[in-house]
Amino acid sequence: MIKKIGILTSGGDCGGLNAVIRAVTFSAINEHGWQVYGIKDGTLGLMSDPLDVIELKLNNFDGNLMRMGGTFLGSNNKGNPFKYRQKDGTLVDMSDRIIRGFNKLQLDALIGVGGDGSMKILKALTKKGKIKFVGIPKTIDNDVMNNELSIGYDTAVDVVTHALDMLQPTAASHKRAMILEVMGRDAGHIALNAGIAGGADVILIPEIKYSLKSIAKHIEKIRKDGRNHALIVVAESVRKENGSKAFIKYIDGQVRLGGIGAYIGDKIYKLAEAETRVTVLGHVQRGAQPSHRDRLIASAFGVHAVDLIAQNKFDRVVVWQNRGVTDVDLNTIAGFSKTININDPLIKVAKALNIYIGEI
Ligand code: F6P
Repeated sequence: MIKKIGILTSGGDCGGLNAVIRAVTFSAINEHGWQVYGIKDGTLGLMSDPLDVIELKLNNFDGNLMRMGGTFLGSNNKGNPFKYRQKDGTLVDMSDRIIRGFNKLQLDALIGVGGDGSMKILKALTKKGKIKFVGIPKTIDNDVMNNELSIGYDTAVDVVTHALDMLQPTAASHKRAMILEVMGRDAGHIALNAGIAGGADVILIPEIKYSLKSIAKHIEKIRKDGRNHALIVVAESVRKENGSKAFIKYIDGQVRLGGIGAYIGDKIYKLAEAETRVTVLGHVQRGAQPSHRDRLIASAFGVHAVDLIAQNKFDRVVVWQNRGVTDVDLNTIAGFSKTININDPLIKVAKALNIYIGEI
């Protein structure tokens, strides 16, 4: 008998997380009369002493919350609880402590909202703790396997499209080639989709090799054909021509993807004799107000996850397939990553639109 469930948001935040927490809470309380606990900051809420959790009630959700970006439960994308970095740099296995926290709350099941990395960790954690688990995919990167749309992706694509809309007039006014570096980790979904929607001339994604010479030629052709500016979208994990990725070292000693836009900008400046400017869009792709589609998917995912628990179906992940919500085995998702297949129909679309997309 299910009476009490927990929900946590894990990994990088994105648009639509408040909407999914709302949908889970409403559905669990209204349709089943369960209690719902929101766990703060991913699994950190179960690690802390006292536990950092709040009981979610319908009145936690004013009219505004589901319209807002971010997650009011907080999230955490740093580290793996099995190898949790302490202040002195040592790595400690905190999994037992998290499981103890879960048991202390006497929760009957857990809903974890996360990307591919979080699913892998939550799978190991819930297996170890014999915790009944249902996953919900969220990530702007949209790289969760067997799932067409993750919560947050649509909003991110809208943000990038809008950025291209704003870059185009200034590119035209100054006869420049504008480079826009976007997120996406090892997948080019954001760059490809927003690049097409935002009228880019060049889209560089990690899945397809490019040549700087070809980009320069493409820009020269655009110029010859009578247009004085160009828009170039580059995904953050596109490699330099020598095969290395661009990283930035942060003050905390960590390295994160970043800088490929500047690399492309410098090279194209010389090769195409085009004045280039680089914009790195960064976290505005994550924090924006969720699009209607993300709110809708989040709502459908939340209700479906509660339905699964009510039917005693666990180790499942709610997914979006064929324009609707369904669920798949957690094992087919955790530990996998969905990148762009070179036969993706959008690659053909890009080429037909005279977009340079790499040596393909
Ligand atoms: O996975 C989501 C994501 O936004 C990636 O696209 C990006 O590389 C990364 O997270 C940024 O992480 P952080 O918030 O730690 O800078």
